Amino acid sequence: MGTVTKRKYKLKEPYLGILKIVGVILLILLVIFLFYRYQINSIKKIGYSEKASNYILFHFKKDYVLQVGENKTLNAAFESSDYKEEYLERYRKITYQNHKNLIKNINTLIKKKYSDGDINLILSHGSDSDVTEFSKRDRVRYIDEFLSYDFAKISNYDRYVNYSDLEGDEDEDVVIYVNMDLDKEPYTDAIEEKNYGIDMVVNKHRFLSKKFNPDLVKVSTKYASEAGMKLRSEAYEAFIKMSKACEKDGLGIVINSAYRSYDDQVDTQEYYRKWYGDSYVEKYVAKPGFSEHQTGLAIDVGSRSTNVFANSKEYQWMLDNSYKYGYIIRYEKKYEHMTLFRAEPWHYRYVGVDIAKKIHEEGITLEEYYVRYLDK
Ligand code: DAL
Ligand code: ZN
Repeated sequence: MGTVTKRKYKLKEPYLGILKIVGVILLILLVIFLFYRYQINSIKKIGYSEKASNYILFHFKKDYVLQVGENKTLNAAFESSDYKEEYLERYRKITYQNHKNLIKNINTLIKKKYSDGDINLILSHGSDSDVTEFSKRDRVRYIDEFLSYDFAKISNYDRYVNYSDLEGDEDEDVVIYVNMDLDKEPYTDAIEEKNYGIDMVVNKHRFLSKKFNPDLVKVSTKYASEAGMKLRSEAYEAFIKMSKACEKDGLGIVINSAYRSYDDQVDTQEYYRKWYGDSYVEKYVAKPGFSEHQTGLAIDVGSRSTNVFANSKEYQWMLDNSYKYGYIIRYEKKYEHMTLFRAEPWHYRYVGVDIAKKIHEEGITLEEYYVRYLDK
């Protein structure tokens, strides 16, 4: 019988020793890695990002953030290459804004000796680029006079100061009027209105493109003083409801003018210029492009019984009730300084029931509603 020899593959020194050392090193690395992940995860759990957590861990700030807890501005600071150790406590106290250059801008503002409160106001009243622009300038005063109103804009800061010097109005009014562009001449430097919703705003500072072409429906002669009038369907349906309610109260309203295209407004302006003169046109007739009638949401209302609408019972009825149907009186005597048109008791604008109610309850103009609630 032959013998079978079994060959054993046994590692011999020094390979065995090397392998053991490598194994031990790998094990140590694994332990270090697991410890590192445990630390990072425990910082992330507090509310910091991976990047910020790494900074925190390697700069021995874990105890500090454990004490502070979640803080988005600190998180942004630890993530940023603009981080400055000496401003750590300031970052902690400044409210976070989702701005690309947040930390860089905070650094500049701190350097310019703005307080935490001022910095919070500046950051919360503009976009990243507004704040970047603002932080380039020398330190200014009166930050909280104007910026304590949520609708104030840091980009309008100089205009607030100038308008306040010129007009001496209350600070809140200054902010509202400047945001309405009342510090600019009517019809100059106007903004094109591109929101075509029922909350759109058209006035002497906000125009509509000549090409604006809203979807319109025909107004039945049952509701209008002549044939061929058109309105946006929302405004028309609301008018029908309003007219029926008015009729139930024993009165009658009728539409005397509804949608007017840019060219119709050219004709309207020419007509009034010819028969009433330039001064009348300036006070009562918008330049083409600047008329609310071009929106398809505005109407001139007449009374079925009286020629002078302002003296009619229907006028009083409209003042008391139109908002319930989504219509607001648009040009009132007390607001001529804001609307920039003379009072027109006959001109109403459809804005929908919610907005109309709010405007009615607060006793404000559509311009003020826009500044306070829409222009964010
Ligand atoms: N009468 C109003 C202001 C207009 O022309 O649109
Ligand atoms: Zn009108």
